[in-house]
Amino acid sequence: MSHRCSCGILYATHVPAFGTGYFKGTMPKIILDTDPGVDDTLALLLALTSPDIEIVGITTVAGNAPIDLTTANALRLLEAMDISTIPVARGAERPLVRQPSPALQIHGSDGLGESGLPGPDRLSPVASGAPEFIKALVRDHPYADIDLVAVGPLTNVATTFLAAPDVATRLRSVVIMGGAFALTPHGHGNVTPVSEFNVWADPEAADIVFRSGASITAVGLDVTTSPGAILTSDLHETLAASTHPAARLTARVTRLGLSRRGQVQLHDPLALAAVVRPDIIETRDFPVEVVLSEGTTRGQTIADQRPRPEGEDAPTTISIATSVADPGFRDLLVGRLTGAPGR
Ligand code: RIB
Ligand code: CA
Repeated sequence: MSHRCSCGILYATHVPAFGTGYFKGTMPKIILDTDPGVDDTLALLLALTSPDIEIVGITTVAGNAPIDLTTANALRLLEAMDISTIPVARGAERPLVRQPSPALQIHGSDGLGESGLPGPDRLSPVASGAPEFIKALVRDHPYADIDLVAVGPLTNVATTFLAAPDVATRLRSVVIMGGAFALTPHGHGNVTPVSEFNVWADPEAADIVFRSGASITAVGLDVTTSPGAILTSDLHETLAASTHPAARLTARVTRLGLSRRGQVQLHDPLALAAVVRPDIIETRDFPVEVVLSEGTTRGQTIADQRPRPEGEDAPTTISIATSVADPGFRDLLVGRLTGAPGR
């Protein structure tokens, strides 16, 4: 089913995947901003196998891999899942200020765990760039009808908010995979001792987004590197044994990481899961500051835990994930990817 919005962009609403068989007219609608990326792949597949959310658009950003590769990977993943109704808009090829810093040593030379996926042969991006696409889509939908789930550097999101500040508050929420807030024993960095990759890669963009007035939930390393958010070999075996295309594709793109590091951290699917099932995480609200100076603390996300007078929220107050339901999250992820009934 396709729909031409008032802005002239032709885009399609999501066709129910895998026999969900009913129109998804009333559940959360998401735009997924992503840099696929192995864990990005699991976020996309969780969204595609979740009958209780609808992807109204995908935007790609340079991050784990250069923009040509992250865009091609988004398209080849949709082709692998035989889905042609979700528009993909190509985004930023570099951060606002910094140099691009791909992480192919983690995600493999193809950005997808050297899984050798074919294509893309049939799909191509829409004509609009990511910021224009996000702006048009959000303005064309009713107020607070869309959640923006950003699981890569926040370059596209910041560029959109700079060009169209109203979009920040028209969105129902912005859920990011990003930051390391030192709120749990796992809340240290992964690029530096204190900085998480998505924020470190484009700290200026993160600073703009945190100051935008959007309703932000940050799913950071504090929870995504905890035991409840790790893909281990036993779960990999369950996925590899499944006949469901999403499970088999997940097993294929995670095999390299599992063989090299014995585990795959489920950063991005946990951020997506927080929209699918909000009680999968617990959060606390704090004002946040992003360090913009170069050096070890570049991209550090500092949660200001000092007591504040009642009702005096700072403008940069966001909700930060402090725990993940275990085994609830991994049960949800594996259950959806394998098509287990009732997950
Ligand atoms: O720090 C983890 C984040 O960086 C994840 O989004 C991963 O895909 C990489 O982009
Ligand atoms: Ca990512």
